[in-house]
Amino acid sequence: ADPEPVQDFCVAVAGAGGDPDASPAFPGFPCKPASTVVSDDFFFAGLSRGGSTDNPFGSSVTPGNVAAFPGLNTLGLAINRVDLAPGGVNPLHSHPRAAELVHVITGQMLVGFVSTAGKYYSKVLAEGESFVIPRGMMHFQYNAGTVAARAMTVFNSQLPGVVGAAPSLFGADPEIPDAVLAKSFQVEGEIIKLLKSKFRK
Ligand code: GLV
Ligand code: MN
Repeated sequence: ADPEPVQDFCVAVAGAGGDPDASPAFPGFPCKPASTVVSDDFFFAGLSRGGSTDNPFGSSVTPGNVAAFPGLNTLGLAINRVDLAPGGVNPLHSHPRAAELVHVITGQMLVGFVSTAGKYYSKVLAEGESFVIPRGMMHFQYNAGTVAARAMTVFNSQLPGVVGAAPSLFGADPEIPDAVLAKSFQVEGEIIKLLKSKFRK
């Protein structure tokens, strides 16, 4: 989904990928001088361990986008690691700038997305199996098994972006008025207040 590269590589200058304000260059972030690029700029060990799943969602997503891995700049690729405790969910979200390939490494995951036609597509994946989420579709991963599950997710963008369903609606800052949310979801304001109490920081 990203633009085509116009040079072999363009390793992002230190910190640039993590700072949206550091992005006057198109595509991607400014390059560090090619003469200073070394093998380690193309190497990333940040996914060798997963984050803790000891949280209300029972899940952890460790990002391997350009912000974490500057060597990805202009290459149109990113990779995440998803860890799910038994019963854990990587909650509903979408990526505005990339399709996502989910590949299960250990355990089992229910993976699903909803199309613009409102159709739900899903599959239970076992170790070594893959599922693809088309760009922009709302999706999740859920561990219906009894042991920890792990997947790698790969994207055709260096910075896929994440729109979290609940955080973007109930955690927006400043907040979306209760009246708008209550009318939109056809529920009482009390339900919106409850949801905001969970997702507003
Ligand atoms: C999983 O859906 C991910 O975005 O890594
Ligand atoms: Mn995703």
